[in-house]
Amino acid sequence: MKKLTFITIITTFALSAGAFETPTMGWSSWNTYGVNINDSVIRSQADAMVKTGLAKIGYNHINIDDGFQGGRDEKTGQLLINRNRFPNGLKPIVDHIHKLGLKAGIYSDAGENTCGNYFDNDSLSVNVGLLGHEAQDCDLYFNQLGFDFIKVDYCGGQIPSSHKRYWLDTRERYEKIHQAMLATGRDDLRLNVCRWAYPGAWVYDVASSWRMSGDINCSWQRVREIIDENLYLSGFARNGHYNDMDMLEVGRTLTQTEDETHFGLWCMMSSPLLIGCDVTTLRPETFNLLSNPDLIAINQDVLGKQAYVVRADSTGGYTFARDIKERGGKERAVAFYNPTDSEIRLEAELSEFDLIGPAKVYDALHRKKMPDAKSTISVTLSPHATEIYTLKGKDRLMRTIYEAETAFLGKYQELHDPHFVGSAYHIRDPRLRGGVGVANAGVTADNDIVFEEVIIPSDGSYRVSIHYLPKKTSEFYISADDEQGYAISPTENGDDIMVGEIDFELNKGVHKIRLYSGDVMPVIDYITIEPKSTVNF
Ligand code: GLA
Repeated sequence: MKKLTFITIITTFALSAGAFETPTMGWSSWNTYGVNINDSVIRSQADAMVKTGLAKIGYNHINIDDGFQGGRDEKTGQLLINRNRFPNGLKPIVDHIHKLGLKAGIYSDAGENTCGNYFDNDSLSVNVGLLGHEAQDCDLYFNQLGFDFIKVDYCGGQIPSSHKRYWLDTRERYEKIHQAMLATGRDDLRLNVCRWAYPGAWVYDVASSWRMSGDINCSWQRVREIIDENLYLSGFARNGHYNDMDMLEVGRTLTQTEDETHFGLWCMMSSPLLIGCDVTTLRPETFNLLSNPDLIAINQDVLGKQAYVVRADSTGGYTFARDIKERGGKERAVAFYNPTDSEIRLEAELSEFDLIGPAKVYDALHRKKMPDAKSTISVTLSPHATEIYTLKGKDRLMRTIYEAETAFLGKYQELHDPHFVGSAYHIRDPRLRGGVGVANAGVTADNDIVFEEVIIPSDGSYRVSIHYLPKKTSEFYISADDEQGYAISPTENGDDIMVGEIDFELNKGVHKIRLYSGDVMPVIDYITIEPKSTVNF
C-alpha cells in the first residue's frame, strides 16, 4: 500500500480572473402571476424593484414570462399582443423599464406554441413561438420593442400540439434562434435556454444560461430536488455561462430556513437570480435575504465558478467550496448543507477546503464574523438548513484531489440516452469516492474528461494517479495541456478501485489534465496530483 503525503502550499502567485459576464439578476413574472400578467402588474413590480432598492444592488432585469401574446396575424405573420392584458402593447412598458435604468426581458418558445398554451389553457399563446418566425420575432422583440433578454422555452418543440406533432432538434432550434438574434445587429442580448436539462457544450455558443431542471414550485421538496440535480454540474458553469436553477421562490411560502438554503445555494452555485415573489409586499426578512451583499458577491464573483461538492457526508449532508476573487487564492466560499429532515452535524478539516489554518471565518448568510478556525470547522444544521462561510486561510494548499464528477465532460448532455449518443454520464456506486464517478467516457475524442484548472504551485515533477473501477478494456490516455498522451492499461483485481500513475513535468500555473480514449473508458472515480518529491513509499 502506498502512502502519500503532500503538503504543498500555494503562496507565491495569484492568477488573474477572466472578464466574464456574471449570472443574470432581476425579477420575473412567472412564479407569482403565471399567465395572469398585465400592464399594471409589470409596471408596479418594476417600480417596486427600484423603490425597495433591489434594482440598485444588481437586480436589473424585469422579465415578462409567458402570457403576453395575442396570437399571430395570419396574413403578415406579425406576432400580436394580448390587448386585454396589455391594452397599449409592450412598447410603453419596455420604455418604462428602460427609464428606470433597468433591462427588459421577454419570453418565447423554440417551437410553435408556448407552455402556457398546453398547461394553462392560454389559447392566445398558440402559434406564437419562434418556429418559422425567427427573424420576424427577433426584429420585433429586440429592435422594435427594445427587449434586452429572452428566455426561450421548449414545450412547442416536443409536445404534440392540437394539430401538429413536433420533435424538433434542440441544438438546431437554439442555434437558429441565436443567429436571428445576432442578425438584429444587437450585440448586448442575453439568451436563456429553457430546455430543462444541461443540453450539451454547444450551448456555450448561444446562451448565457440554461435551465438544468424542470420547473421549480414553492415547495421544499422541489427546491431540494433541483439542488440535487445540480450537485455534479459544477464543471459546466464556465466562462460566464451558467446552470440556471430556475426563478426564485424566496419570499413566498417556504420557511425562512428553507428560503435561506434556496437563496444561499443559488448564490453558491452561480445560478441566475430572478426574484419570483411580489416585491410590492416584501417581508423585511425576505428583503434582507435577497439583498444580502455577501451572498450576492459570491453569486456575482468575477471567477464565475459554481461551487463543487467537497464531501457527500454519511449524515446525508454536503459540503461545497468554490474559489472567489482569485483562482487558487487564500479566500474561498464554502457551504454546509442539510437536505435531510433531521438535525445533523458536519465537521470539516480546513485542508478539505485546500486551506491551512488558522482561517478567518465570516458567516455570509448571517453577516457576522465568527471565531477563527484553527484546523477544523463544525456546524450543526437544523433540518433543511445551510451555512455559508467565506474562509480566509493562512495559506492555500495545492488541491490534490479532483473528482471526475467535478470535471468538464466534453460530450456530456442530458437530452438523450447517453449510450445511444455516446456521451459520458455520472454514475453512483458505493465503491466510488463520494459515491459518484463518470461512466461511458471515450470512443470519440470529444467524449473526454477534462480537469480544466489544475493549479500547480511551482515548477517540478508531479505524479498524477487515476482512480477507476476495475474493467478489462483497452488503454485510455492522459495528457497535460493537450501535449503527448500517455497510455494507462486498465486492469482488474476483484472489486478494488484501480490506480494508474503517470509523472508529468509541469510549470507553475494553471494546467489542463485530460483523460480520453478511442474505446469506452472504465468508470473514472477521481485523480490525485502530487509533487513527486513528497511521494513516500
Ligand atoms: C415552462 C417553463 C417555466 C415557465 C412556463 C410558462 O414550464 O419551464 O419556467 O416559463 O413554461 O408557461
